[in-house]
Amino acid sequence: MQFFSFFLSLGLLLTVIISNGLDSPEPRLRESADFPVGVAINPKRLAQTDYAQVVGREFSSITAENVMKPQYIWAAERQYDFSLGDSLLEFAQAHNQQVHGHTLAWHLMQPDWLENTIDSYDSATLENLLRDYIQATVKHYRGKVVSWDVVNEAVSSGGKGWRNSVYHQKLGDDYVARCHQYAREADPDVLLFYNDYDVIASSEKLATILAMVDDFQSRNIPIDGIGLQMHIRLDFSLDKFQYALDEIVKRNLKVHLSEVDIRTNPDGELSTLTEEAAQQQQELLAAIVQRYQQLPAENKFAITFWGLRDNESWLTKHTGHPQWPLLFNENFSKKPMYQGFLDGLDANQTQLD
Ligand code: G3I
Repeated sequence: MQFFSFFLSLGLLLTVIISNGLDSPEPRLRESADFPVGVAINPKRLAQTDYAQVVGREFSSITAENVMKPQYIWAAERQYDFSLGDSLLEFAQAHNQQVHGHTLAWHLMQPDWLENTIDSYDSATLENLLRDYIQATVKHYRGKVVSWDVVNEAVSSGGKGWRNSVYHQKLGDDYVARCHQYAREADPDVLLFYNDYDVIASSEKLATILAMVDDFQSRNIPIDGIGLQMHIRLDFSLDKFQYALDEIVKRNLKVHLSEVDIRTNPDGELSTLTEEAAQQQQELLAAIVQRYQQLPAENKFAITFWGLRDNESWLTKHTGHPQWPLLFNENFSKKPMYQGFLDGLDANQTQLD
């Protein structure tokens, strides 16, 4: 009789375990994808236990949302403060995460001292200052940072030609190429990316960037990948996305979906994330992930989300309305968009099975 009751109890226990999913640990994004899954963070938020736990649990790549930009490092002409970036590096190393450096040369988020003096520099002085900044920063993080957005958003917002930034005005058309050369001189192994926004929405911008790549490759200017920022809306064109992926792969470059967020409320009409919008967000991310995962392994760098929780997103201030654009709610619970990421991975797996 004891024999029977033992197996009955065992059967009941197994039923409880399986029905509660206790036998199958929750999926983790970092273990589900065959490419790094990243998140942009503010290292000051890592003091919050829940924040640190989710970032460490789910992600295998980290980007500094702000603290590795010139505004935070470039303290004076040839003085640099790496402390905030170093704190982010410490967390990443403790959690076996790669770090993507963002960004060396950008027309925004310059330190105040540079904003106030840049117009007074002649071209040679500015060139030397920028070169020394790039090389000091890349050398400081050599062997710790796997990649850099060397230049960010240098193409004009309209897509044709270079942005008329002060760097372009003073240093000319070829400053982007020279920034890539400076970074390569400082670290022979770090991956060098060019990073920009609206590259899918604007066929002109994509064409300009592809022409830049063709020019770089014809002159042996070092470039390893393109960062597609992916600050997108629900009407995102998957056909244009696939075209851009194909063109970048043709050039043997890595693709980094570098700043992914999917805004659901561009016109500010919603006061809450509706089920319909959440489902559209889930389905769009699934379609994007499915296409990204189909890339050849050597062309996949990472998919990086531009923030952890909806309430932290830059988009709220930028658009003046909540956009619910990210994977996690304010209480760190997963949104349908999180499942969308897994759905995208599964879609390919189903096709392979
Ligand atoms: O740290 C100061 C704080 O001391 C001060 O009280 C506060 C006053 O508003 O400003 C804080 O600095 C803000 C900084 O983010 C840190 O939170 C700046 O005002 C604000 O402009 C800055 O915004 C960042 C923006 O880049 C700068 O242009 C966003 O967080 C960041 O998400 C955004 O990220 C960029 C990428 O680097 C490049 N691609 C586009 C993307 C979105 O703009």
